[in-house]
Amino acid sequence: MRIKPIFGSLKGYYKETFLAPLLVILETLLFSQIPFIIAKLIDNGINASNKDYIIQTGLQLLFITFVMAIFGVLAGLFAARGAAGFSKNLRHNLFYTIENYSFSNLDKFSSSSLIVRLTTDVQRLQNVYQMSVRGAFRALSSIFFSIYMSYIISPRLSLAFLFAVPISAILLLVIIKLAFPRFDKVFKEIDNLNRIVKENLDGSRVVKAYVQSDYEIKKFKEKSSKLEKLYISAYKLMVSVMPIMLMCVFAITIVIVFFGSKMVINSTLTTGELVSLVSYTSMALFGLIMFSAVFVMAIVSAPSVKRIVDVLEESVDIKDKKDSIKEILNSDIEYKDVSFSYLKRDDKLCLENINLKIKEGESIGIIGSTGSSKTTLVNLIPRLYDVQSGSITIGSVDVRDYNIKILRDSISYALQKSVLFSGTIKENLLWGNENASDEQIVEMCKIAQIHDFIMSLEGGYEYKIERGGVNVSGGQRQRLSIARALLKSPKILILDDSTSAVDMSTEAKINKELKDKLPKTTKIIIAQRISSIENCDNIIVLDEGKIVGEGKHDFLLKSNAIYQEVYYTQKKEVSDASI
Ligand SMILES: Nc1ncnc2c1ncn2[C@@H]1O[C@H](COP(=O)(O)OP(=O)(O)OP(=O)(O)O)[C@@H](O)[C@H]1O
Ligand SMILES: [Mg+2]
Repeated sequence: MRIKPIFGSLKGYYKETFLAPLLVILETLLFSQIPFIIAKLIDNGINASNKDYIIQTGLQLLFITFVMAIFGVLAGLFAARGAAGFSKNLRHNLFYTIENYSFSNLDKFSSSSLIVRLTTDVQRLQNVYQMSVRGAFRALSSIFFSIYMSYIISPRLSLAFLFAVPISAILLLVIIKLAFPRFDKVFKEIDNLNRIVKENLDGSRVVKAYVQSDYEIKKFKEKSSKLEKLYISAYKLMVSVMPIMLMCVFAITIVIVFFGSKMVINSTLTTGELVSLVSYTSMALFGLIMFSAVFVMAIVSAPSVKRIVDVLEESVDIKDKKDSIKEILNSDIEYKDVSFSYLKRDDKLCLENINLKIKEGESIGIIGSTGSSKTTLVNLIPRLYDVQSGSITIGSVDVRDYNIKILRDSISYALQKSVLFSGTIKENLLWGNENASDEQIVEMCKIAQIHDFIMSLEGGYEYKIERGGVNVSGGQRQRLSIARALLKSPKILILDDSTSAVDMSTEAKINKELKDKLPKTTKIIIAQRISSIENCDNIIVLDEGKIVGEGKHDFLLKSNAIYQEVYYTQKKEVSDASI
């Protein structure tokens, strides 16, 4: 498992990451002296009834504990500061990486999974950081110093540690190796559960409309119980860690007390020394237990590391070239033999050999049945996805040669599913162009036929849109999205089914305004209704990812079977509706 990308987030907090363990080691070093000093106190002070020595040693112990306390507090402060900074950096890095993702990168991760990675997983690593810089170093230095001091007191008795420590370390490793796959499953299931919750909450209105609450509750319960079982199975293994560690340490204590008392009787060891050896055993016990706790935590968090690294290392497939072109001279668009597959497979093409020319200022309509790849076709222009083969040029330059920001800034795209953010109407519109003046905003809203509606709202342009735009209707949301797209003053305007929820007469007004007020903007209009595009300069009929017809309305109506069928079906629907 790769963890190197995580270390990048330590930047700016190296000092804390270095000082916290150093202070912990110094604190433990001082702590390890205490049993040794007490041993002397017993042998030279208490057993020899030397009051001065007792007082002197007492003061020495007081001083040591005071310094230890200072080291401990400082280590805690550095660790907390380092952990908070590390997780802040990690969150920033993740967010920045995700913001740079292309659509195909985003297709790989569900949004609920990304949320868990940015929150729970980062929090977990923050805890691991804090536990590691203090706990792990305290544990390891406790083990090391206790063995070292035992060795100084009695090299023979300290041999007991040489057996016990490697045995317990091997046992720990075995348990961890077994536990890892189980925790991996737990995290995958948490992702699943989050996905279900998110989908359910996002679609709660649909769930209620279809009276599917019971079904959703059942589905949630099943996943939740599965998670419970997986958790228990993973922790079943981990619960054995502590008893095993305790067993090892008690075994050492018995060995030391058994042989140590014999040595005291033979006068090869003093009472004080035996007492201190038992203390060192407890210190080693403390070290091992703490080490296993840190290790368990690290294991539990290992899948989080993997999940974060997966996001950080996902290679962003749509990037700027080195000498990218920063100016778009004209907005003639040309598709040359373009093929595309979401799966990057030649046998699963969504678009096949598309050849198309769109002149600057022209309006082009795209029509075709649902799933015929209309959205896919236009997604390739702002490079939301890149072509599989062939090329798309704007002003005779391949879109892949442009600077992405410049390219996307000159294209406005009202997405098929219009999204508004919580905030005022004006804030939502300024999102298209933060420097737009009030006059410009009003002008664009008039073109999008939404100005009158906005003025009828309480507060007008200051009216607050709720999260997801729930307090405006579908058609109003679409028109606001069109106005937002227009505010960018784009060279190319793409409207993907953006007037599907707008009534036909309003739609006709929008189209007329677009034609009159934006003569230089190239307009690409995807629609289901022929009435939305019949006045376009050119119309493309798409079927299963191929262009099966191209021309003006009258021409297609005479020559194209699919176009005729759509036209007459819709005409019939309109006349049926008016009866
Ligand atoms: N992100 C994606 N990953 C994989 N396949 C996709 C993705 N988006 C669309 N597709 C598939 O590509 C095909 C074309 O989809 P597209 O959205 O371009 O159709 P469309 O003509 O815009 O349809 P609609 O009129 O319903 O909007 C469909 O078969 C769809 O399932
Ligand atoms: Mg579409």
